[in-house]
Amino acid sequence: MLTIKSAEEIEILRENAILVSKTLAVVGKEVAPGVTTAHLNKVAEEYIRDNGAVPGFLNYEGYPYTLCVSVNDVVVHGFPSKYELKEGDIVSVDCGTIYKGFTGDSAYTFPVGEVSPEVAGLLRTTEESLNRGAAAARVGNRIGDIGYAVQSYCEQAGYSVVRDLVGHGIGKRMHEDPMVPNYGHAGRGKKLVSGMVICIEPMINMGKKDVYVERNGWGIRTRDGKCSAHFEYMVAILDQGPQILTTYDYIQNKKNL
Ligand code: MF3
Ligand code: CO
Repeated sequence: MLTIKSAEEIEILRENAILVSKTLAVVGKEVAPGVTTAHLNKVAEEYIRDNGAVPGFLNYEGYPYTLCVSVNDVVVHGFPSKYELKEGDIVSVDCGTIYKGFTGDSAYTFPVGEVSPEVAGLLRTTEESLNRGAAAARVGNRIGDIGYAVQSYCEQAGYSVVRDLVGHGIGKRMHEDPMVPNYGHAGRGKKLVSGMVICIEPMINMGKKDVYVERNGWGIRTRDGKCSAHFEYMVAILDQGPQILTTYDYIQNKKNL
């Protein structure tokens, strides 16, 4: 189901996006060596509920936590656990909300302390590819233009794009049509129209693109065991251009919580 949102609905989606953005920043302040990923989950759940919303992932198709916390070779959908973060790790935090009948969904990958220059490059490239993908989300463009923007930028830098999971439309439900792959051909796929709201979420691997599902049925890991990064924005496609509803300004200290 593909739904076109009214201006009022987009404002509620923006409220969800901002609450998720703030939650990611609150979680990010806790990220440090020795902290468990379960602690991050607890902090996020409390913050979301304190703000009158409900965690969007908890119980979604049986998912048992508020956050997906994916360390190093875990691409996405990592379970929070007793694992203690250590210096040099990277940790993708993916968070969702339900508020005023709509949903929010965004992610950010944090470095834990100092990371190697190679890993820092992966984070920088993945975030930049997301910005390029969002810039391609314009009325009249096609879905393939977004994937092409992400893929071409990441591959020229020597990284690979995960194919097994994709971005998506978002609205009253977290996953709506269309699917938004992080790979593709310019000028191909569904036309983008005003009032669509989508999640663009590149999952970019340092090594090869191949992944497998962990035995818990959720966690997705790289086959070669190398690191993977994940960033996700909610983007409204408007006549005046793409509007990124998510903001990393709270994380990057450009805005106070
Ligand atoms: N951002 C992820 C997605 O769009 C969130 C997974 S939610 C979960 O698929 F609840 F399924 F874990
Ligand atoms: Co998503």
